Amino acid sequence: MSIAQDDLNLKLAGVDREVAVMCIACGRQYPVEAVNDGCQSCGSLLEVRHPLEALRSTLTPEWVKQRRSEREFPYNSGVWRWRELVAPFSNANLVTRNEGNTNLYEDARLAKYTGVDSLWLKHEGENPTGSFKDRGMTVGISHAKLCGATYVACASSGNTSSSLAGYAARAGLQALTFVPAGKVALGKLSQTFAYGAKTIQVDGSFDLALDLVRQVAHAAGVYLVNSINPFRLEGQKTIIFEAIDQLNWQTPDWLVVPGGNLGNTSAFGKALYELRELGLIGQKLPRIATIQAEGSAPFYAYYKNGFKDFQAVAPETVATAIRIGNPVNLPKAQRALEWTDGLVETVTDGEIMEAKAHLDRSGIGGEPAAAATLAGVRKLTAAGVIKPGEGVLGILTGHILKDTDSIVQYHSDPTLPGANAPVKVKATLEDVLKLLGL
Ligand code: F0G
Repeated sequence: MSIAQDDLNLKLAGVDREVAVMCIACGRQYPVEAVNDGCQSCGSLLEVRHPLEALRSTLTPEWVKQRRSEREFPYNSGVWRWRELVAPFSNANLVTRNEGNTNLYEDARLAKYTGVDSLWLKHEGENPTGSFKDRGMTVGISHAKLCGATYVACASSGNTSSSLAGYAARAGLQALTFVPAGKVALGKLSQTFAYGAKTIQVDGSFDLALDLVRQVAHAAGVYLVNSINPFRLEGQKTIIFEAIDQLNWQTPDWLVVPGGNLGNTSAFGKALYELRELGLIGQKLPRIATIQAEGSAPFYAYYKNGFKDFQAVAPETVATAIRIGNPVNLPKAQRALEWTDGLVETVTDGEIMEAKAHLDRSGIGGEPAAAATLAGVRKLTAAGVIKPGEGVLGILTGHILKDTDSIVQYHSDPTLPGANAPVKVKATLEDVLKLLGL
């Protein structure tokens, strides 16, 4: 059924504009209000296609400026401000917490640490539930509402489940989350059950949990919001729209992001592609560098062998957010690298935690997966891949408080760089002054 034929139904269902949801491999098209976790014909990934040619005359730099100045619902959300490039849902279906609107930081110490001349760090940990997931979740949950879902579900290494739980609670939907037992940072796990999600600990990795929740979704008609959901990625694109807007539409040379299930890598490639099609940025796109943890790096291996032979891995890393061995967005992420002349790099757990200590000491802070960005920038600069004079936009994906265990553990080992363990003292002025050497 083509979108045009179905237009009347879509309007009745709360969809106010034509977009196409289609398979990236075979081109089969689906109605906007359909619930799918992949193409029913060939099993490949679905994506949302916007009528870019038609939007070109509307989405001008003046339009961007005008939208930025609007303060009312829904344009006070850093996602729905870009609604023409996100999803065509009517206002009544939007479930939003004014996500996005995150800061872009510059810090001389971190620039020096990474060896980069111009480093901008966009902190997606500043979203309502503490990670970039909220940008995708507002779209996913709004779509679930549009589709009349009762149950919404995900597999998660912790942040998707926190975000899903929070947004489902706002929408009055029941959330089901499947998480790898013992491998989710406590900040995320506690957030998930506090917001009221049914939290199912799966004896196995994130990849196994995802496989399981997909089966549950098919068997029980539950709405799935993992990043195989094409609407999720439309929300995550706005990280790039907003960052480039904050840079006054000067594109950086590099865009560095941690990679797990590769939703962000995919979304960022699509965001850049669309901005170029619209004429909002020039022809030369920033190069995407996806950073994986060395123990969870199947995309790196695939990239290194020329995208010929993909092998899933049994993942392990201190950055539990990206402890993923079989990323579902692989073909979209590959496409993003091809569009942007991108690359994949790995960093060790030691490099991640050292970078995290620097990130935290700068006063900005972030969870280990966020610090993988910084460690990746440092490694690519040291290797001469990022060149002197090039500008780098790094994405910090999660908040410092998401994973406090990793912080306490790191700072308890005095041999580690920057370790800063708390000290105990007797509660007398004399003892305190002695301790402080004052
Ligand atoms: N950084 C953080 C903090 C994350 O939580 C995730 C993914 C990533 C990076 C990787 O992003 O999957 O788009 O490549 N977390 C998911 C979750 C898997 O369940 O919370 P990706």
